[in-house]
Amino acid sequence: PTGLTAKFQSKGKKFWGSAADPNTLSKPGVVDILQREFGQVTPEYSMKWDATEPSRGVYNFDQSDQLVNWAVSNGKLIRAHTFVWHSSLPSWVQGINDHDTLTNVIANHVGALAGHFKGKVYCNISNGLSRFQWDVVNEVLNDDGTLRDSVFSRVLGESFIPLAFKVARDVDPGAVRYINDYSLEWDSPKTRAMVDLVNRINANDGSQMIQGIGSQMHLEPGKTGGALSALQILAGANVQEIAITELDIEFASPDDYKTILSACLQVSKCVSITSWGVSDTDSWRASFTPLLFDGNYNPKQAYHDVIGAMS
Ligand code: G3I
Repeated sequence: PTGLTAKFQSKGKKFWGSAADPNTLSKPGVVDILQREFGQVTPEYSMKWDATEPSRGVYNFDQSDQLVNWAVSNGKLIRAHTFVWHSSLPSWVQGINDHDTLTNVIANHVGALAGHFKGKVYCNISNGLSRFQWDVVNEVLNDDGTLRDSVFSRVLGESFIPLAFKVARDVDPGAVRYINDYSLEWDSPKTRAMVDLVNRINANDGSQMIQGIGSQMHLEPGKTGGALSALQILAGANVQEIAITELDIEFASPDDYKTILSACLQVSKCVSITSWGVSDTDSWRASFTPLLFDGNYNPKQAYHDVIGAMS
């Protein structure tokens, strides 16, 4: 097999994906690489609350539908991102201070998005893959493991998390439901708090409401040594799978990328890696050249070494 996702699948993993959106899908250099190398896409912006429900009850799926339609017609899986996040959140939501109002607003938003995309995604998944993963909630913990301050936690405490997961499960039981965060790439208080949070919520519900944990892995150079133990800690939670969901590593050293690849390969619950973009040019932090392809869409040394490590 050739290409990142084919090689990764030959090692028993589900896919190696990349962030994308209409802005990058308009670049032939990106599309060529996505088609050849990657088996999954994550909308970098177009499914966020700012983009999908800019005012209450008014939904806009134009950009996200372009991403989903491209993925379906190109046979790519989708990591949908993200129902509930404190950032890219319209001010009309941020200003809510009433418990029942916010509960209804969250339930309506999650229900509308889960329902909209459930109907649209017909990826014929041959090898039993679930067609869709949802980042149901994103970045709900502080580095010390306490609940992050947001309109959601201020008004509803921790209960906004099971609320979002319950609506997602009721509306689209076929999607795999993830909780996603950063700084989960070493044995930190946050990593252990994430496991406690997931186990607490799943125990309270008596089922696996949270089925997966996403570790974003926006990494600094030389800071990859703790990744294996972190993935092992996350895999110890009551979840069916974990995933590396937004991988980019400052200056993209081959050794750093090989360390992350090796960590995922050694943890059976680690089902996928998603790079946070194709080319350095389009990275949210382009100046750190953190990705596997350069500004001319050529593969970098880290790409060759990662491919070699899977051959
Ligand atoms: O604001 C415009 C909006 O008016 C316009 O309609 C839209 C159309 O594309 O673009 C918007 O521009 C920017 C958007 O990216 C699309 O390029 C937003 O201003 C800008 O804030 C947004 O940045 C994204 C950021 O999340 C905030 O949503 C980055 O591209 C994206 O890489 C970054 O990704 C996050 C993950 O979602 C969560 N983990 C951290 C990661 C890095 O911050």
